[in-house]
Amino acid sequence: MTSEPTQAAVVSVDRPTDWWKSAVVYQIYPRSFADSNGDGIGDIPGITSRLDYLADLGVDVVWLSPVYASPMDDNGYDISDYQDVDPMFGALDDLDRLIAGLHERGIKIVMDLVVNHTSDEHSWFIQSRDPASPKRDWYWWRPPRPGFEPGSEGAEPTNWESAFSGSAWQFDERSGEYYLHLFSPKQPDLNWENPEVRRAIYDMMNWWVDRGVDGFRMDVINLISKHELGDGVPLPGRTRVSCFFFTANGPRLDEFLAEMNAAVGLDARNLVTVGEMPGSTIETARSATDPENHELNMVFTFEHVSLDSRPGGSGKFDLAPLSLPALKKNLNEWQVALAEVGWNSLYWDNHDQPRAVSRFGDDSSEHRVNSAKTLATVQHMHRGTPYIYQGEELGMTNTYFSSIEQYRDIESLRYHSDALSLGMEVETVLHSLSVKSRDNARTPMQWDDSSHAGFTEGIPWLPVNPNYLTVNAAAEIEDPNSVFHHFRKLIKLRHDHPVVVYGRFELLLPDHEQIWTVTRTLDDQVLLMIANWSSQLASVPPEAIPDLTGAQVLLATHEDSAALELEPWESRIYLLS
Ligand code: GLC
Ligand code: CA
Repeated sequence: MTSEPTQAAVVSVDRPTDWWKSAVVYQIYPRSFADSNGDGIGDIPGITSRLDYLADLGVDVVWLSPVYASPMDDNGYDISDYQDVDPMFGALDDLDRLIAGLHERGIKIVMDLVVNHTSDEHSWFIQSRDPASPKRDWYWWRPPRPGFEPGSEGAEPTNWESAFSGSAWQFDERSGEYYLHLFSPKQPDLNWENPEVRRAIYDMMNWWVDRGVDGFRMDVINLISKHELGDGVPLPGRTRVSCFFFTANGPRLDEFLAEMNAAVGLDARNLVTVGEMPGSTIETARSATDPENHELNMVFTFEHVSLDSRPGGSGKFDLAPLSLPALKKNLNEWQVALAEVGWNSLYWDNHDQPRAVSRFGDDSSEHRVNSAKTLATVQHMHRGTPYIYQGEELGMTNTYFSSIEQYRDIESLRYHSDALSLGMEVETVLHSLSVKSRDNARTPMQWDDSSHAGFTEGIPWLPVNPNYLTVNAAAEIEDPNSVFHHFRKLIKLRHDHPVVVYGRFELLLPDHEQIWTVTRTLDDQVLLMIANWSSQLASVPPEAIPDLTGAQVLLATHEDSAALELEPWESRIYLLS
């Protein structure tokens, strides 16, 4: 590891106040983006070789999922050294070159900050296993439940279930105590109550800012402050309770975030911050993004991506139908709540979610293109900063694996074995996985129609989606009517029209089962979006929208569009004045 950044990386970039409000962010999941050396795993030089593609798309920021040293139990979200790059992805020099290459193209870079937990192979945790070490208190160690033999069944300090199934406590022979891991046993939770932990993290963040990064996407950041460690009441038929309900949004969350902001100069240096916050509410998000509080710029809510799970059910794999009015209502609530204070992030997709076009749209060959476009139109016409996940701009779809052997993700594998041990039908489990597993998002990026979609010259770590022969970047760049070009135009609209960025948001027809229509208003400019969010014809009631006389169509999915009868997944954006 070289400790000094190369000269190129520290090219200074312009970061005016609130620059991120007019930005579009593109998320790269490095493992699945582009492989430069034929080992079947995407890497940093692979990303660097594709920068012109990103510039052509027009995005302003790249959010890079973790590339740090890691045993890869959770594909890099288990970090063993925050200040080094994993050899699988390259070296620090490669990252310096990537940062420089992005900055040369006017694109900023956001690093993933995973500081709720480390890897169990991080030197801090290795030291912490020793009860006499000064690092003992850097993690959450607890004795067994009173009256239970250490390591025996039921002896875990609380009845919490980890996010990846199984107990959130792992027994450690050496001291006869347990440590807390809200995710896998290889992801022990850091104890943020300890000021030395916080200091070490802020120092590390400053080191990255000095190296040229423009901000942070903060992994499960609302878990850093924990509520009291105690038992909860399990659902019928279960022995454990989901740890999120018990630990999320702890009492010191705002304090820790404000302290971090000051210690790293997040606001002072106009760095961009977005906090991933499962279990956050509008209230927690409002307080975390209120500029007066100097915490974060944006939050990733999970509410809209939980609407297709059964309320009060066993979690994300407990599927439920999604209704359009419910989805519109939820997004609208966030729009209204963060209209005057704070700022929204806008996303359908990321590396933890199934592919948007399969989930919210219609990925059949007949409707895939138009539904991917319409999803994008609706996303980009809400008020907030849009996040595009790699391949979303191509309308990439779920992969529909049929056997558990095809899955790689720790969440999928642990869910499968846990659900079967609880007596669930294997077909049900496999169906849930094919709809919701994170592997869907992680199949390799589809660059062209050559073998393995041009992702690698070796054997990809996860199979390429067979539809790459038609769904791929090279083909879409050639086709002016592709999903890719639709995204390009949406990004350009944001850059050209302040009303897209700042316009006041209003949802019309909230209860309509097919039509999604909103207006955005800035001074005397009014923008109207109408969209058919269904695979059937739909009509917009003329009395429900503003008069279209003289309106200019800024972007439409279909040619010759004029009537208020919309084709399946047809959408339009008008400028009314
Ligand atoms: C976040 C990440 C996810 C990871 C988890 C634990 O939710 O996005 O990929 O598994 O945190 O770090
Ligand atoms: Ca590689």
